[in-house]
Amino acid sequence: MKQHVDLNGKAILVTGSPGFIGANLVLRLLKEMTAGTVISLDNMNDYYDPKLKEYRLGLIEEAAKASPVKHVFIRGSIADKALVDKVFAEYQPAVAVNLAAQAGVRYSIDHPDVYIESNLIGFYNILEACRHHPVEHLVYASSSSVYGGNKKVPFSTDDKVDNPVSLYAATKKSNELLAHSYSKLYNIPSTGLRFFTVYGPAGRPDMFYFSATQKLAAGKTIQIFNYGNCKRDFTYVDDIVEGVLRVMQGAPEKATGEDGLPLPPYAVYNIGGGTPENLLDYISTLQEELVRAKVLPADYDFEGHRQLVGMQPGDVPVTYADSQGLEEDYGFRPTIGIREGLRKFAEWYKVYYKA
Ligand SMILES: NC(=O)c1ccc[n+]([C@@H]2O[C@H](COP(=O)([O-])OP(=O)(O)OC[C@H]3O[C@@H](n4cnc5c(N)ncnc54)[C@H](O)[C@@H]3O)[C@@H](O)[C@H]2O)c1
Repeated sequence: MKQHVDLNGKAILVTGSPGFIGANLVLRLLKEMTAGTVISLDNMNDYYDPKLKEYRLGLIEEAAKASPVKHVFIRGSIADKALVDKVFAEYQPAVAVNLAAQAGVRYSIDHPDVYIESNLIGFYNILEACRHHPVEHLVYASSSSVYGGNKKVPFSTDDKVDNPVSLYAATKKSNELLAHSYSKLYNIPSTGLRFFTVYGPAGRPDMFYFSATQKLAAGKTIQIFNYGNCKRDFTYVDDIVEGVLRVMQGAPEKATGEDGLPLPPYAVYNIGGGTPENLLDYISTLQEELVRAKVLPADYDFEGHRQLVGMQPGDVPVTYADSQGLEEDYGFRPTIGIREGLRKFAEWYKVYYKA
């Protein structure tokens, strides 16, 4: 059972906005809510081109002008405990959505410190703030990477996920464990969401579809890992936002156990497309859509600009979400296919980089 959380008239904190998913969520909140305040908190780091974050912030500020909802942007790090506490004390958010994190599997091989700082210390600070300034619901981003090299498909939240194959995955799994302990100890309703490869317009340039597009547009060669023998459960960003929005409004119910102590109001869900795509098919669709959107000419030599290479450390050969839990509890499963999603990305790319 879920406890309904009405967002209207309340303060909603979204960390990691204007990051990719965060910005899309805030834009949706500004559209859907009829009153209240949405707070974006982000350190605007330069892991990828910060201009893209400024661009998304611009879209948010433009949308806020037409919205009855107030938008506040705070530039700072969730690893700064005093700042996080101050934000919670001042705004008393009813719902906190923690999307701020150092993302990326490969980057964690050479830059471990920042994962510990943002994903562990930062997340701990969010939990402490929720403890001292109670929220109706804490929603946070976990990741499909917690499944590591899980052989059983589709990946279910009932599967054992104790074998992370990257530090990034280990920090995300740790978030789920930390959240469980805080839910139990302080009765904080929390829901972790394991996102599966999220893509879309103004997405992350470190992700394959985006970096491949940039390379092809510059006449460079793209590398296709594991000789293209990968399957990914790609999820279009609007589907992720719809899922997050629904989850935000339904918190795990508080209940008391036989020992008289609170049962942890805690849950974890997958959000993934549910139809894993072969990487080579995904690339073919991307190519077709880049030609259609006139990012690349119709006679582009794709074969001459691709190199098949082996598996990279930390990578996994397949991701495949079982989203049944989300469907049962929130009546939703992602539906947007790669043709539609990559078309929107290619069309956005054409306009953004022309400008
Ligand atoms: N995009 C995906 O495919 C995917 C898949 C699984 C999980 N996730 C998770 O979803 C969340 C959002 O991902 P995204 O794709 O939007 O990434 P993103 O990098 O675009 O967004 C994350 C934002 O967090 C900010 N940030 C990082 N460290 C911070 C800190 N210490 N304090 C404040 N802000 C900080 C960054 O500046 C960035 O804007 C992340 O937690 C990520 O790990 C994403």
